[in-house]
Amino acid sequence: MITIKSRREFAKMAKAGAAVAAIHEAVRAAAAPGVSLLDLEEISARILEERGCSSSFLGYHGTYPATLCLSPNDVIVHGIPSDRRLEEGDILSVDAGAIFEGFHGDAAFTMPIGLVSAEAQRLIDVTEDALWVGIREVRKGGHLGDIGAAVAEVGKSNDFGVVEEYVGHGIGRQMHEEPQVPNYGRPGQGLRLRTGMALCIEPMFNAGARHTSVDDDGWTVRTADGSLSAHWEHTVCLTPDGPQVFTAGEEPIPVEFEQSAARG
Ligand code: MF3
Ligand code: CO
Repeated sequence: MITIKSRREFAKMAKAGAAVAAIHEAVRAAAAPGVSLLDLEEISARILEERGCSSSFLGYHGTYPATLCLSPNDVIVHGIPSDRRLEEGDILSVDAGAIFEGFHGDAAFTMPIGLVSAEAQRLIDVTEDALWVGIREVRKGGHLGDIGAAVAEVGKSNDFGVVEEYVGHGIGRQMHEEPQVPNYGRPGQGLRLRTGMALCIEPMFNAGARHTSVDDDGWTVRTADGSLSAHWEHTVCLTPDGPQVFTAGEEPIPVEFEQSAARG
């Protein structure tokens, strides 16, 4: 079922989104060579508590053990925070989710740790770019296929492997709601977008081939060929005032504004 959110419900999702943005900011500031993944997990748990939120991830499927997914280097998504310490040259994907008064926000970014290779930085930048290209396809009357087609084009034209086994999703009272939001599709095809919908758009691009494998822990998803991977995600809502990004800061950001701001 695709749920349609009211203004009041979106206001709660905005609070959840702001908590996720605050976690991103704090983790980005703290992540550095010598810092452990569990140090970052602690920061996330503290911010959730400070903001009266619970975690979207902790206990997910009965077994997920943390409030963050921390996915270094060849880990695509769902890396579990451990005592592993970050090293200069790593890249790290940080995925956070918050629940405020029953409503979720979910977003991810990938960052360099110290100085990284030019190719690693290009992977990070192109995947971020693909997220925003996808976000600009979210409009009333548009189609789900517009988003996936636009995201995939950015990855493929840059010679990156575009992961297909894991997809974006609707979001609301559940972290994962219908519809699925794949990083592939055909323009003008698929579900028609309407006011009240909330979507998580999340490109995952690999420096090598798109194929994936899951570790024995049942969670950690890696590139099959060992190449680096990046993951960017935002929660995007079709509000009565137009499309807005809910996980970029303290307040939702109108997509049109973001578009013109990016053009300078
Ligand atoms: N944030 C991820 C997503 O976008 C989900 C994290 S998996 C969990 O779907 F187990 F950590 F919850
Ligand atoms: Co998500």
